[in-house]
Amino acid sequence: MKFRFAFIALLALSSFSLSAQAQDIEAGKKKAEACVACHGVNGNSQSGMFPTLAGQNPRYIYLQLKDYKEGRRKNPMMTAVAGMLEKSDMQDLAAYFGSQKQTRSTFKSEPQRIKAGAAKAEESLCAMCHMGGMSGQNEIPRLAGQHPEYIVSQLKNFKARERTNDAGNMTSLAQTLSEDDMENLAHWIASLY
Ligand code: HEC
Ligand code: HEC
Repeated sequence: MKFRFAFIALLALSSFSLSAQAQDIEAGKKKAEACVACHGVNGNSQSGMFPTLAGQNPRYIYLQLKDYKEGRRKNPMMTAVAGMLEKSDMQDLAAYFGSQKQTRSTFKSEPQRIKAGAAKAEESLCAMCHMGGMSGQNEIPRLAGQHPEYIVSQLKNFKARERTNDAGNMTSLAQTLSEDDMENLAHWIASLY
């Protein structure tokens, strides 16, 4: 009897968290109207200036919004946007964008750059943190299919220590990358999806 009770309690708990998540996604969808102009419909950005958010890990999205708001990551556009968001907005937006399907970009990676980028990634152990296929996990971003221009801009920002919100892993790793390495890695990453 005791066992049966525990089982029912567990069921109730899991259906509660499922519907809470669906509610977050629904709420996030409305709030995301403020993001469309730059991040595109459903978070599939059409420009390399703006990162694609569709399919990104919710935990990573949430932490980046928090970092912009609290000044640990700096960008004039995003600092202004995040300044207007409360914690629950960030959670809803993260749940929404994380649940959206990333669409394949039209960028054509150059075969020799894919090869050189893959070799550099293996040498630098990118997959140790970003996982195989660069799919990311929790607070580590998904990179697969991201705009090459955006990838290069972030690697340059890490190297110049203009982006320092990652506790040092990316800033020290980026010191070992030349501009050519960054281009190659970006072509390889774009080819992964
Ligand atoms: C005026 C254009 C603009 C608007 C509107 C905008 N963003 Fe951004 N967003 C950017 C730019 C540019 C970047 C890259 C900034 C950088 O280099 O740090 C960015 C980066 C981000 C990132 C970091 C992504 C990553 O891969 O690290 C997140 C998360 C994000 N935006 C979420 C949002 C959300 C949520 C909204 C709507 C509430 C929004 N943005 C509205 C321009 C915009
Ligand atoms: C030791 C772990 C670790 C390794 C190894 C690592 N990364 Fe990262 N990377 C991170 C973390 C953590 C972040 C998120 C930082 C933050 O919160 O701002 C990140 C962020 C990034 C970003 C920014 C993505 C975005 O959406 O803004 C890029 C690009 C990136 N890494 C590329 C690479 C590449 C390419 C390699 C291999 C050459 C690599 N990383 C190796 C941990 C790592």
